[in-house]
Amino acid sequence: MKSIDDLSGVEGKRVLIRCDFNVPLKGEVITDDGRIQAALPTLKQLRAKGAKIVIMAHLGRPDGAVDPKYSLAPVAKRLGELLGVTVKLSGDVVGPSADQTVAGLVDGDVALLENVRFEPGETSKVDAEREALAAKYAKYGDVFVSDGFGVVHRKQASVYDVAKLLPAYAGYLVEKEVKVLRQLTVEPVRPYVVVLGGAKVADKLAVIDNLLQVADELIIGGGMAYTFLKAQGHEVGRSLLDESKIDACAEYLKQAEEAGKKILLPVDVCTIDPTTLDFGARTLGSEVVVTDVTAIPADREGADIGPKTAQLFSEAIMSAKTVFWNGPMGISEIPALAEGTKAVAKALAQSSAFSVVGGGDSAAAVRTFGYQDSDFGHISTGGGASLEYLEGKTLPGLAVLEEA
Ligand code: 3PG
Repeated sequence: MKSIDDLSGVEGKRVLIRCDFNVPLKGEVITDDGRIQAALPTLKQLRAKGAKIVIMAHLGRPDGAVDPKYSLAPVAKRLGELLGVTVKLSGDVVGPSADQTVAGLVDGDVALLENVRFEPGETSKVDAEREALAAKYAKYGDVFVSDGFGVVHRKQASVYDVAKLLPAYAGYLVEKEVKVLRQLTVEPVRPYVVVLGGAKVADKLAVIDNLLQVADELIIGGGMAYTFLKAQGHEVGRSLLDESKIDACAEYLKQAEEAGKKILLPVDVCTIDPTTLDFGARTLGSEVVVTDVTAIPADREGADIGPKTAQLFSEAIMSAKTVFWNGPMGISEIPALAEGTKAVAKALAQSSAFSVVGGGDSAAAVRTFGYQDSDFGHISTGGGASLEYLEGKTLPGLAVLEEA
């Protein structure tokens, strides 16, 4: 991949940059601006070189239709505060407002196009539709810089197709993320422990498959653990369960045993009465009861790892030299169910291992618990992107830069 350090003579030129500003919002308030902060090194460097900057980004999944709920206005405001300039947000993506905004830029100015996913061509599966939109984006830049690492696993117009139309470079964030993930896939310092959590076991099976070859130990918590517990023969009550994946989980447990690799699963869990859980209000109207995984009552849901498990997982993390963590251990947005996730975050922050936190939920969780990014080796801005990288998949947004 060509680096922006190879980019000379950008003074007065228009640099079209793809960023990932898909940040969590509560109303119009950004609750974790990590992804905006992560874009600053590239943006500052290009501004310092006198470029005119045009940023493309998405927020949520508005499915090709304009929806004010997904406007990038809060992002433009926050980015402006962080850069100390006014970020000009266009009123459309490639229409008259965007044309006018880009035409009015002077050296060092920063413009943000409205949410690229307001355009149906952005995420279209039809190549010609994406290419037509990419051609419109390309009119806004003399060169293209890809710095939205969180979205490089998507074959989308502003990530993939536009990179074929302009001289294309990797920004500092993309370079940094790739360097770290490569370190995890090629000769990681051992023991290498991977901690996986989150709700959906189906999303993580491919990565488990790949990691079983590279990692020394796999720790599985969160909602996805219950399908593994069921595969071990435990009853899981009303906990999250993906019936269609029980056999696959059983197979992974067998494979791991044969390969002499450890898969650590919860030994106790915090159970709740799911009828008293209000996700929207983030409240729980009943008591949390800790039970052994061999005794989860039929009417209760496991919603966090228990204290014995937290201790077990922490010890495994502390004895590692490399750790990758993706996904919370429980419903960590609810304080009473965040203890397991907190314990993992604490072990990671205290360990001397090279630790990588991947995925929006885990990254937001560690920041909510009060940790600084510097408490970890690296906090990845990519959830799906980092997992797909570790799965060994080809990421279209990176492949296109390598070809450039
Ligand atoms: C993310 O939040 O992981 C990225 O911004 C990609 O978003 P997407 O899953 O909606 O493509």
